[in-house]
Amino acid sequence: MRFTVAIDGPAAAGKGTISRAVAAHFRFAHLDTGLLYRAVGAKVAEGADPVAAAEGLDLSDLARGDLRSAEAGQAASRVAALPEVRAALVAFQRSFARREGGAVLDGRDIGTVICPEAEVKLFVTASDAERARRRWLELAARGGAQSEAEILADLRERDRRDREREAAPLRPAPDALLLDTTELTIDAAVNKAIEAIELRQAQGRE
Ligand code: CDP
Repeated sequence: MRFTVAIDGPAAAGKGTISRAVAAHFRFAHLDTGLLYRAVGAKVAEGADPVAAAEGLDLSDLARGDLRSAEAGQAASRVAALPEVRAALVAFQRSFARREGGAVLDGRDIGTVICPEAEVKLFVTASDAERARRRWLELAARGGAQSEAEILADLRERDRRDREREAAPLRPAPDALLLDTTELTIDAAVNKAIEAIELRQAQGRE
């Protein structure tokens, strides 16, 4: 059985939380594609060439502990604007998306570029203030010292870069289901995603 769930949206909108929960619920594999760009960005920050870093990316690179920081996020969004970097990461993401047993991929261009044929596409958003609040809670729990205002500025700068770039800009696929999580609990947001997938699975059986 091949079944792809594409989850896109701006920074800290809840894509990761929803993706992990959906993957666990349906026993699908999950790929956080932001980690690919964060890992490339981290290598570039250490002096590597961006394209060579993307071409040589290894799964073990995704396990490094420093990829969740705001600096790694900024480094990711800078290398993510380079078409050659994106191109080097396409094949891996596409084969992950079509693996046997089902897959959930979250990122910015999964429903538009990586997997336009995905069975379910979600575009997850939340207000800027709510996204900053959530990311602040997440980073503070790991000992981060940034204020909510600094995090808000960081998210907005990244979103602007991600939306305005020419290569695979952040935007909803025309057939994506929009999910605004500003007022939703995690359970409510996850349930909406699960409902959309179950509906599609039922259609597939008709
Ligand atoms: O977790 P958060 O939403 O803050 O970011 P992320 O998903 O880890 O992505 C980090 C950066 O990687 C984004 O700001 C994008 O510039 C880039 N990215 C991308 O261009 N395409 C993807 N499919 C995933 C991430």
